Amino acid sequence: MLDDSELQSLLDQRKPAHSLPRPFYTDPDLFQADMDRIWYRDWLFAIAAAEVPKTGSYVTLQIGAYSIIIVRGADGTIRSFHNSCRHRGSRICAADKGAAPKLVCPYHQWTYELDGKLLYARDMGPDFKPQDHGLRGVHCAEAAGMVFVCLADAAPDFAPVAAQMARYITPHDPAQLKVAHQSTIVEQANWKLVLENNRECYHCSGSHPSLCRTFNDDPDLVGADDSISSPAGLAHVERCEAAGLPSRYVADPDDQWRLVRIPFLGAAVSYTMDGKAAVARRVGNVPFDNAGSCLFFHYPNTWNHFLSDQVLLFRVIPVSVTETQVTTTWLVHKDAVEGVDYDLNRLTEVWIHTNDEDRRIVEENQKGIASPAYLPGPYSQKQESGVIQFVDWYANTMQKRLTGPARPASNIAAE
Ligand code: FES
Ligand SMILES: [Fe+2]
Repeated sequence: MLDDSELQSLLDQRKPAHSLPRPFYTDPDLFQADMDRIWYRDWLFAIAAAEVPKTGSYVTLQIGAYSIIIVRGADGTIRSFHNSCRHRGSRICAADKGAAPKLVCPYHQWTYELDGKLLYARDMGPDFKPQDHGLRGVHCAEAAGMVFVCLADAAPDFAPVAAQMARYITPHDPAQLKVAHQSTIVEQANWKLVLENNRECYHCSGSHPSLCRTFNDDPDLVGADDSISSPAGLAHVERCEAAGLPSRYVADPDDQWRLVRIPFLGAAVSYTMDGKAAVARRVGNVPFDNAGSCLFFHYPNTWNHFLSDQVLLFRVIPVSVTETQVTTTWLVHKDAVEGVDYDLNRLTEVWIHTNDEDRRIVEENQKGIASPAYLPGPYSQKQESGVIQFVDWYANTMQKRLTGPARPASNIAAE
């Protein structure tokens, strides 16, 4: 474990607007500090609400040391629980996803309601109080069709971002979406390299031939500070706002999230090889096809695109200091029929290519940083302002959380 003074000295070595010192990408102790101080404290994007469509639908997730269950209750509410039985601790759900009327522990069949209450425990004697042995809760919030969880005792206030998400995303009618496809890859790189790579398009023209058919890589399109500065971007925002689509750049004062609607290149309306819509059935009540893409990121683990014909959600979960799981979920209108309203290959090919290209990029980045010869290098102010913004958010967040102990492992969310 790194103590506060060691972490402070590493943060002090950071040069502004430069990539981070090597241990931030390679040191297992620093990875643990990231988990303790960011991943176990912040709101994390977990699943699309459409992944748990019915009462009893559940998904399990491993976030660092924690296994959690996300389940839809009989009242329609999505809740999250620690996946650890209150008898002797067995995992209750082993599958990645499924559906069950009750949550039954496979070890001795203690049986829980979908809201976490213990319903049945055989032969525990007259003094046993089932109400004292409900599943331990994990903070869970749903906004704009996205389910977020927070492993902290006291979760940060999610209301401000949830309100803005609702404003920007309601026109895409997230309640009417279904999952068309999901892909999960594990990239051999530190999670911060995955995020850094996402926050710039300096690499796009050299690496993403499919994406660059439709995605505008102009760095002035979306600045990292407070605005869109290109004329095409401004005209797009004004046109969408005039049609009732919230589109102007809005960001968290602490830089953790951002929403903005940007145009595609030329006449493109979607991320397809020919720029035409991938899905005939439009999502929600977006008033025109060429509404561009509403971009939403929330650190540390998600970036997303809300289009007129589909929604793309990206989730990042660290596995180890040099392994990061990236899950992409493609959502379409629930009444869109595969083979009739959309072709799955056409819907998914651009981002499947792009994800694989990004995987190779960040894996090469990790390998180069693993060399003792690596020295932090300067980010381009013009092209990499988004990376500077992310790395500053990361370092400032770690700095703020230096005071006081790292969160003790036993100190988890109360039931
Ligand atoms: S550990 Fe779950 S019922 Fe015994
Ligand atoms: Fe990329």
